[in-house]
Amino acid sequence: MEATFDFGMIGIGVMGSNLLLNIADNGFAVIGFDLKQERADKLEAAAPSGTVVKGTINIEEMVRSLKKPRKIMMLVPAGKPVDDVINNLLPYLEEDDILIDGGNSFYKDTQKRIEYLQPKGIHFFGMGVSGGEAGARFGPSMMPGGDKEAYRYLQPILEAIAAKVDGKPCVAYMGNGPAGHYVKMVHNGIEYAMMQLISEAYDIMKRGAGYTNEELHAVFLKWNAGSLQSFLIEITAEVFRTLDTETADDKDYLVDHILDKAGSKGTGKWTSQDAMNLPVSIPTIDMAVAMRDLSVYKNERVEASKLYGTEITKLTLPSTEFIQDLEDALYFSFLIAYAQGLSLLAKVSVDYKMEIPMPDVVSIWKGGCIIRSSLLYQFDKAYAENSTLSNVLLHQSIADVLKQKEAGIRKIVSLAVNSKIPVAAMSSALAYFDAYCSERLPVNLIQAQRDFFGAHTYQRIDKEGVFHTEWNVNGS
Ligand code: 6PG
Repeated sequence: MEATFDFGMIGIGVMGSNLLLNIADNGFAVIGFDLKQERADKLEAAAPSGTVVKGTINIEEMVRSLKKPRKIMMLVPAGKPVDDVINNLLPYLEEDDILIDGGNSFYKDTQKRIEYLQPKGIHFFGMGVSGGEAGARFGPSMMPGGDKEAYRYLQPILEAIAAKVDGKPCVAYMGNGPAGHYVKMVHNGIEYAMMQLISEAYDIMKRGAGYTNEELHAVFLKWNAGSLQSFLIEITAEVFRTLDTETADDKDYLVDHILDKAGSKGTGKWTSQDAMNLPVSIPTIDMAVAMRDLSVYKNERVEASKLYGTEITKLTLPSTEFIQDLEDALYFSFLIAYAQGLSLLAKVSVDYKMEIPMPDVVSIWKGGCIIRSSLLYQFDKAYAENSTLSNVLLHQSIADVLKQKEAGIRKIVSLAVNSKIPVAAMSSALAYFDAYCSERLPVNLIQAQRDFFGAHTYQRIDKEGVFHTEWNVNGS
């Protein structure tokens, strides 16, 4: 069999097909494998004229028709399906072949797969792919990590298909081992935080200030044209003008018919869990996960709202000032959410020896992905001066921006608290900021208590050493 294809894909559902067609558009000959013949046929039928696209249900045919070193990507559900595909492929793979997992796999699974395939001479890449179906077809953001030597074979293809911002492709080598999947996991943690923050702003405007969907659409549209310009703000504006097709009333908006229980596939939770293991403090991401979890307990919430008679106090503020404060509050808390995620990456870059290039992370998140936003430009200066900065909050340029927005978030959080509108993520962003910027925290008392009941010892501010006190000598 002649080896004529440049790139192979296992799993040609919508994401896999779209990515493959994107690669084909850029002049590469591609072949996709799926267990279902109709998917193979559909892929070929979707190929634009002038491109070389083949679908097959024969995995051996796919592998043998690829040029060496073979470049094969899997886009299958995370977990066991990835291991099944690897084991089905193995009999046909040869030394130096490159296998990419483009799904949202847990980074520890990726590490195990790297270790399993390394002795066989196969280069395994964990690659985060963000941007959904449209991104896959017309330009995603991609976060590949793994064997740096082998990356040069992937680089031309990935750079060709990635979204471009300021002429730069939104793809770069993200570091050693499972770094690619780690960076994508943190991307998703930030995604959870930004979505939660937007939903809190929505709650304040809707339940608090009584904004209609038309007004909400206008506010988000305005924000997207200003400093909050981002994919998530942009789609939110669209949501508020989408009418429901199930109901007779032609002025009924779909968003009002959607049940308030949020789903999740686990990447946000993994981010929080791993951050706690290290430990790194990322409370705004933690809160976003916790609020999705709480939302699921709908019946209990209904019962509790009756028991406590929860009633929102209506907000009556001059609307331009209120909307400006809210915009500042969102800006402030978005920046904090990014800062928390980036501080986690800076830590694992060292602790897990991933050597993550922080300036590149910020650069490839500027386009193609779900968390793309103009706010990311704020971090350029900080990383240009110090690419291993442990926390971007320590840079003067970030301090200057946050100080401008600080008054807005303080007003909004206190308004919300007094009106009984839950702003868990927004208030956590502010509390994180206040704690991070506190020279002294009250945890001296926690240390005293720990030593009191458990002889856990403490350190002193005035001399070196580890101390223990018999606290209750004068007690009862
Ligand atoms: C992306 C997204 C995507 C993720 C969804 C679902 O970058 O394109 O992060 O990879 O799977 O957002 O996540 P949840 O179901 O956990 O919300």
